[in-house]
Amino acid sequence: MTTEHNPLGLPPEKIPRHVAIIMDGNGRWARQRGLPRLAGHRAGTENLRRILEACVEFGIEILTIYAFSTENWYRPPNEVRGLMSILEQVIDRELEELNQQGVQLRHIGRLEGIRPDLQAKIKQAIERTKHNDRLILNVAFNYGGRAEILDACRRILREGLDPDTLDEETFSRYLYTWPLPDPDLIIRTGGEYRLSNFLIWQAAYAEIYSTPTLWPDFDKEELRKAILEYASRERRFGRVLEKV
Ligand code: IPE
Ligand code: IPE
Ligand code: MG
Repeated sequence: MTTEHNPLGLPPEKIPRHVAIIMDGNGRWARQRGLPRLAGHRAGTENLRRILEACVEFGIEILTIYAFSTENWYRPPNEVRGLMSILEQVIDRELEELNQQGVQLRHIGRLEGIRPDLQAKIKQAIERTKHNDRLILNVAFNYGGRAEILDACRRILREGLDPDTLDEETFSRYLYTWPLPDPDLIIRTGGEYRLSNFLIWQAAYAEIYSTPTLWPDFDKEELRKAILEYASRERRFGRVLEKV
């Protein structure tokens, strides 16, 4: 990783290891241009490319992106179909390039519910890139934080774990994100101040940054601003840091 000569001029410990992005605002971006919502989703997908490059340059190790929530199924059927086919096209067209760039793809969310042929493509993409270590791109697709916690509980109950010794560390091993560390910084584009069911367990001590910039317009400079803001914050984790 390139944290020593970081182009942001920050010491390595001030760079978030794990950045998670709620990529919101594609629909509004399209509407402002008189385009269909799917054109916004396509522009958002294009934007991902430059953000990936910027993450590598800035020394971020893990990028988690919220691409499709468990609630997004309730959108109009043609938008849902479009979002599914965008994921499929990204895998079909970009996988080799991502692989060459050293990107390791991961998925969080429920595979069940996704079309079987698309499920197979997701699994293949994960398998194909699993040895890469330049950047982890963790895609939250058919993801819901509550579903994740429920799924963890179900597995824990099925395995018959002892309720008296179950602790947070053990619980987190049953989450989709295991073994990734919790996000340090959660960015939300599109101006809302909510998590929308994203990483609700893992966000316990994440720094949250919201910008009105719509996702297709969120560029490297915007990412730089978010990281500089993160670096200026004092993370206390409930403790008292100053010496008394
Ligand atoms: C975020 O953009 C992408 C997904 C939820 C898939 P939106 O589609 O939510 O865009 P807005 O919020 O309507 O502008
Ligand atoms: C969150 O955005 C989900 C994704 C970015 C995939 P939404 O647009 O679905 O969230 P709400 O409806 O504003 O809470
Ligand atoms: Mg939205």
